[in-house]
Amino acid sequence: EEAAMEQRVHDIRKELGTSLFIPGHHYQKDEVIQFADAIGDSLQLAQVSAANRAAKHIVFCGVHFMAETADILTMDSQTVYLPDMRAGCSMADMADIYQTERAWTALQGLFGNTIIPLTYVNSTAAIKAFTGRNGGSCVTSSNARSIVKWAFTQKERLLFLPDQHLGRNTAFDMGVPLDQMAIWNPMTDTLEYDGDLDNIQVILWKGHCSVHENFTVSNIEELRRTRPDVNIIVHPECRREVVALSHDNGSTKYIIEAIEKASPGSAWAIGTEMNLVKRIIAQHPDKDIMSLNPNMCPCLTMNRIDLPHLLWSLETIMEGGTGNIITVDEETAAQARLSLERMLAQAD
Ligand code: 13P
Ligand code: SF4
Repeated sequence: EEAAMEQRVHDIRKELGTSLFIPGHHYQKDEVIQFADAIGDSLQLAQVSAANRAAKHIVFCGVHFMAETADILTMDSQTVYLPDMRAGCSMADMADIYQTERAWTALQGLFGNTIIPLTYVNSTAAIKAFTGRNGGSCVTSSNARSIVKWAFTQKERLLFLPDQHLGRNTAFDMGVPLDQMAIWNPMTDTLEYDGDLDNIQVILWKGHCSVHENFTVSNIEELRRTRPDVNIIVHPECRREVVALSHDNGSTKYIIEAIEKASPGSAWAIGTEMNLVKRIIAQHPDKDIMSLNPNMCPCLTMNRIDLPHLLWSLETIMEGGTGNIITVDEETAAQARLSLERMLAQAD
């Protein structure tokens, strides 16, 4: 049955030709990735979709916020589909616009007009729009350092949404001491901090990635005991302590390139999503590669996109239907674009 589904996907791709474009995120399953026209991180995929003017139908194999970003950057004549609407992102969902507006009002009360918002691209279109209309920028895990540097040329303080770990890891690497970082708790609408309020430079939103939080200090300690020869590389969505104890850290793109450059025979434990780790293992039989957490850590929402959902989405296009179209309203899209454009103008 799987072979029949694969054949049908092949046939539809052939029939739709260049009017169909299938971007696939690194964390997607192999059964989906085999059909991807481009593989990359969320921003790369949104950009290639926008650059591909022939593509009328963009079937985004990733999660909801990524499909939104693709819709924001593409033209009106291009339609973005998400094969399963349940493919959300728990991190993006940790910052909703009502919580964020409440936080902003409270923080203005505490710090006046001294704060610039920065949002990780892993956020809803509404949060990107909030960031854009308040003078801020998006960041990715690849350019977070350069955008944080730029942000401090604009204002004394920054609010970093929605991932506390990427925010903390980036600011710490740039020399901001931990006691000059506070955490905004959207559940209680309060600011959590040690030390002096006036010294706070970075306000971290209390959000996290439920996949990357599964890599722990005890995983590292266990590995050091059993395999002291293994190099450890993790994604900066991992906790501060985990990043601090690892040899290296970086975005998915950075991790992929680091393993490509590594010498044959070297051993690596990777702290990122399971499908990508499995693919890196398969692509490098000359290296000894494993997941930092031996249980492997899948992103359950990414995994909702599978071969049956991809095929279903393609069938709806063939039938001229309107299944699972992602549209961001024009006002939100225009403000969100501001935050994406500020990022693209600053990133090196
Ligand atoms: P990057 O591909 O930008 O490193 O992001 C990781 C991630 O968690 C995507 O959801
Ligand atoms: Fe969201 Fe984490 Fe899954 Fe990425 S890996 S989509 S940040 S939950």
